[in-house]
Amino acid sequence: MQDDVRPALHEFVVKVNEPVAQDTYRLLIEAPELARTIAAGQFMNLQVPGDASHILRIPLSFSCADAAAGTVELVYAVVGEGTARLAAMAPGQRSTLTGPSGTGWRVPEQPGRVLLVAGGVGLPPVIAAARMLAAAGVGFDAVVGARDAAHLYERGVDELRGMAPDQLCDCARRVLVTTDDGSAGIRGFVTQAVEPLLAERTYVQLMACGPAPMLRGVAELADAAQLPCQVSLERLMGCGFGACSCCNVELAAGGYALCCQDGPVFDAKEVVL
Ligand SMILES: Cc1cc2nc3c(=O)[nH]c(=O)nc-3n(C[C@H](O)[C@H](O)[C@H](O)COP(=O)(O)OP(=O)(O)OC[C@H]3O[C@@H](n4cnc5c(N)ncnc54)[C@H](O)[C@@H]3O)c2cc1C
Ligand code: FES
Repeated sequence: MQDDVRPALHEFVVKVNEPVAQDTYRLLIEAPELARTIAAGQFMNLQVPGDASHILRIPLSFSCADAAAGTVELVYAVVGEGTARLAAMAPGQRSTLTGPSGTGWRVPEQPGRVLLVAGGVGLPPVIAAARMLAAAGVGFDAVVGARDAAHLYERGVDELRGMAPDQLCDCARRVLVTTDDGSAGIRGFVTQAVEPLLAERTYVQLMACGPAPMLRGVAELADAAQLPCQVSLERLMGCGFGACSCCNVELAAGGYALCCQDGPVFDAKEVVL
């Protein structure tokens, strides 16, 4: 997998499209070239058939790309018209996507454990990050937050727990769940689980994806602990490949970057969260 491959148009076939939590679906598509070339943290833009008036593609991250099987797994929330039509796609249906798009996660240069933090449907790219780290022999802990137990993508949490054990560390991996209402795991926001972990265990870096307030909170905790933090951002997107400038991300040093090309993964210190 590489993230210097330019986005191209690919046909995909739906293999599985199943509900996995409240308003949340797991989509497995067959797209062999994409599965070979997409890197953790990159995304794709899917065309959902069914409405000629809806011309914009839907940007979605992925959780697993299996080059041998030629498949890519996505997990998405139904929030509006496009994702509702996506949820109605049946196995065997075909459409197109563009990808691999954007700049993904980077494996930390310094040896040591990473703390992964996911909120809501920020979980899929965090699962991809975990796979990338596990393949590189880098250890990780994770905190996964959801609104409540019904919205928690439990299979994703199990995947994080079940990935190959850390090769460089003999201490057990911690994968903590938080829910806003306490219906699963720790009651509260992810930051309430991140803070004690940072005090208790040693990390070289944080990697986070989720809603903007969550990312601000996680980046503040990383800053206080003097740790680098990569964040994966979401923006409304038009073209998805750098042509329309509608996905601006404000830079801390002034000016703007494009979420669809320079991101979605940024160094938290370089952007205004
Ligand atoms: C790089 C990237 C990766 C993403 N990965 C995932 C993923 O793995 N899983 C997932 O569930 N969602 C992901 N999203 C968000 C997803 O693209 C939107 O939820 C989707 O486009 C909404 O389309 P819609 O037509 O159903 O909703 P609309 O009817 O267009 O909008 C419904 C609501 O969702 C908001 N919304 C629409 N598009 C976006 C967007 N791009 N970012 C944030 N909010 C949006 C709207 O403001 C509105 O409040 C990602 C977005 C980006 C930019
Ligand atoms: S979505 Fe068009 S430039 Fe980023």
